[in-house]
Amino acid sequence: MPELVLVERDDPIAVVLLNRPKQLNALSDELMDELVGELQRLDRDEAIRCIVLGGSDRAFAAGADIGELAQSSAIELYYARRIERWDAIRGLWTPLVAAVSGYCLGGGCELAMSCDLIVASESARFGQPETSLGIIPGAGGTQRLTRAVGKALAMDVILSGRLLSADEALAAGLVARVVAREAWLEEAKRLAHDIAAKGPVATRLAKEAVDRAYESTLQLGLEYERRALYLAFASEDAKEGLTAFGEKRKPSFRGR
Ligand code: COA
Repeated sequence: MPELVLVERDDPIAVVLLNRPKQLNALSDELMDELVGELQRLDRDEAIRCIVLGGSDRAFAAGADIGELAQSSAIELYYARRIERWDAIRGLWTPLVAAVSGYCLGGGCELAMSCDLIVASESARFGQPETSLGIIPGAGGTQRLTRAVGKALAMDVILSGRLLSADEALAAGLVARVVAREAWLEEAKRLAHDIAAKGPVATRLAKEAVDRAYESTLQLGLEYERRALYLAFASEDAKEGLTAFGEKRKPSFRGR
């Protein structure tokens, strides 16, 4: 059996690619298990400071595996706690960059939105077409898309099944960067290397603070940010970064 998830290390980054090309990387149960396992393994590895998650040229992922869904009962899905697995992705400490080329639909779009940021090829197409199947997004689509792009566009995408182009997704705030068709993976890796070069303690705290902005009130977020800054200040990395600037040299961060 070919691996459903390919992992390539280029310390301090790792690249994880979904590998069910014939099914446009539809997120089968087995694929999700492998993916979460690999991401958690890399997350525990201190040498890895940023992870890129991608698919293929043709598809990041065309959604949950419809064949599997068609054969499952509601109670089976409920007991299998399949969607709960997605919380593990949100819980990763290591920054996760989604590299999206081609179709990014349904669960694929939800997976990309679970990452910290999205780099999209000009060819990328984002959508939540679940209502065409008589179901609705269930892994955060109605919530994360609405927060990312606002109610008007989220309603349009979710109710009409319309796909957003990369440029529309950029203008709406769903993706961070749009890059040339052939450059999606290289650009995502370059960005990951930039992220990985920063102070790891600060990066983690900054990522959590931005998540607070996304997930809680302004007041709670501001309080979190202030405490996170004090914590960052207490790190050896902060001492190193501030000293290196004065000494006009590149900092050497140890993640301590
Ligand atoms: N689950 C399972 N298999 C899927 C899939 C999914 N979400 N999306 C695509 N596939 C499979 C197709 O069944 C097809 O398999 P086959 O060659 O054995 O028939 C293969 O991937 C290629 O897809 P195909 O539809 O032939 O490609 P296309 O270029 O004509 O269309 C899409 C691409 C993405 C528009 C179309 O596949 C599609 O609409 N997929 C479903 C998207 C969706 O509703 N996602 C939400 C799921 S909850």
